[in-house]
Amino acid sequence: MCGIFAYLNYLIPKKREEILELLVNGLKRLEYRGYDSAGVAVDSAASKDISIIKKTGKVALLEEEIKSRSNELDVSGTVETHCGIAHTRWATHGIPNEVNSHPQRSDPRNGFVVVHNGIITNYKAVQTFLEKKGHVFESETDTEIIAKLIYHFHEQHPNYSFRELVENVVQQLEGAFALCFKSKYFPGECVATRRGSPLLVGIKTATRLATDHIPILYGKEDPPPSPAAEHRPHGRGEFPTLPRTGSTSEFEPLEDKQVEYFFASDASAVIEHTNRVIYFEDDDVAAVKNGSLSIHRVRRGGDDPHKREITTLKMELQQIMKGNYDFFMQKEIFEQPESVINTMRGRMNFENGTVTLGGIKEYIPEIKRCRRLMLIGCGTSYHSAVATRQLLEELTELPVMVELASDFLDRTTPVFRDDVCFFISQSGETADTLMALRYCKLRGALIIGITNTVGSSICRESHCGVHINAGPEIGVASTKAYTSQFISLVMFALVMSEDRLSLRQRRQEIITGLKNLQHQIGEVLKLDNKVKLLAEDLYKKKSLLIMGRGFNFATCLEGALKVKELTYMHSEGIMAGELKHGPLALVDETMPVLMIVMRDPVYNKCMNALQQVTARSGKPILICEEGDQETMSYCQKSLEVPKTVDCLQGILTVIPMQLLSFHIAVLKGCNVDCPRNLAKSVTVE
Ligand code: M6R
Repeated sequence: MCGIFAYLNYLIPKKREEILELLVNGLKRLEYRGYDSAGVAVDSAASKDISIIKKTGKVALLEEEIKSRSNELDVSGTVETHCGIAHTRWATHGIPNEVNSHPQRSDPRNGFVVVHNGIITNYKAVQTFLEKKGHVFESETDTEIIAKLIYHFHEQHPNYSFRELVENVVQQLEGAFALCFKSKYFPGECVATRRGSPLLVGIKTATRLATDHIPILYGKEDPPPSPAAEHRPHGRGEFPTLPRTGSTSEFEPLEDKQVEYFFASDASAVIEHTNRVIYFEDDDVAAVKNGSLSIHRVRRGGDDPHKREITTLKMELQQIMKGNYDFFMQKEIFEQPESVINTMRGRMNFENGTVTLGGIKEYIPEIKRCRRLMLIGCGTSYHSAVATRQLLEELTELPVMVELASDFLDRTTPVFRDDVCFFISQSGETADTLMALRYCKLRGALIIGITNTVGSSICRESHCGVHINAGPEIGVASTKAYTSQFISLVMFALVMSEDRLSLRQRRQEIITGLKNLQHQIGEVLKLDNKVKLLAEDLYKKKSLLIMGRGFNFATCLEGALKVKELTYMHSEGIMAGELKHGPLALVDETMPVLMIVMRDPVYNKCMNALQQVTARSGKPILICEEGDQETMSYCQKSLEVPKTVDCLQGILTVIPMQLLSFHIAVLKGCNVDCPRNLAKSVTVE
């Protein structure tokens, strides 16, 4: 998904070289989001114009391009105040090439340049309008209309401030966006805004800021601006513009004068510079002028807090670096003994067997009265819901619906005030999940976010929630977030059943299981070399079927998703009970099959499936319980994992699947951390 990074230094002399390095490094931190081209815009050395450098492919290629143009860019020159914007693009409109890369520009003289994350749904209409006005489009992107529209407004209203121009532009945009603008007409200024796509700003000053928030400045309320749709220009008419806000838009200065600002799609690009950040809300327009940041909103919202807090990030740079591992995904798999503890920290009291989820504590009585629980997510996050559904049904005795966010919306599923809806998302920004959240919120349901990203849209828009605290997950393939989501939902089930005497024993065995998890995950990770050998047998195959049922069915789905996304090999997670209803036809002596057979209540049924496979000359690889010689005697190859309580077993069985997909990907030479065509944070539908 596209990544935005912008850097503004005010009264802090910087070499151009340093600025370009800083911009490129910001983009490198955002690489994990997935992208296919990159670009930067900085002030030109010789004139008052803007230089744009763009490159298809990796940020490293952009870096080389910048180096090759170091004379032209006068990299040794120094600037005291400067704004540079940068972008990694994940193609949505138009193929990945340099013209379609961002920054997009307003005109051949680069009057205004913009970087964008998201999709503008009404871009065709605006483009048609602008073409009639004589603007010539060079790219296939939706973003170019933004650069050209601001230029159009500037020509119409030369006295408008940069911020006012941006406000007028966003009135006309429909869809999702985070935007950062730079202009040769407003040197040393930067304006940024968002609606539906994430954006934050990091603030760095020499001394600690005296303020912990930035007040919101509002536009004139009379006359209220009409919605964008009513503003459509007719024929060769004009877009009506907002009334000027004049002196009410004066900038509220920060205490410090020398200051640096880092606008970014997420905190990983900012954290090495500052831990003081502001997360913007939809429709905030943030402007830096004369070194001061102001946040403006066109309309006063009902429950708007009238200020934006400066948050202190707890994340450390090492947390987002690879450490001793070759790949982020590998590091994240091996972090699981620790990440599961972080998920439980301060929540599980193993001494007295109590569980406290501070983020939803107040809502528990309301949740207990609900009509049903709905668990909604995409991809791996959805699988964590599949994995825990059975336990939630058992411990809450409530109907539990598990939904893929996209399908849930397609069906316009009925949702009621007495529903409790969980939105599970590692990034907290997945567009489908966020849309489903808004859909349920509108219908009065209680909204609970289960996310890994503090300050994300899903966090902010939920009534309450649980941070899974797995730490930053950089690899596109989700691993430690899955096990932490799993545990968060298990802890919720425990909270819901704390006063049920009849469940006391069951709860206690689960609590003991959770306590032992860290050690047991460590044991599973010792299988790494054995899994690598299996990967060597499998990596040239075309397909891999993964079968299981009951508490381990989710591992089959999640394992198959990992294999597909990382190795580009076909893989399918099959509910073992469905074998006879079709998939058995695929089985012969050549078809690679992996089966999960644990000594749980569905053991006999799993054995039945195993025998069906071996009877068709299938040679399944087994994931089974440590020391289960009897089951292993049916197969030539097996991976033994420690036994835990049935409902937690999926946490231990999924890890060999994570390792297997990782090793196959390495053997096939695939890009482990950024699989082709995929993005970490899917902020478009
Ligand atoms: O950030 P989210 O958890 O909302 O993301 C949902 C899916 O896009 C994500 O889990 C995806 O399936 C993973 N890349 C799979 O490894």
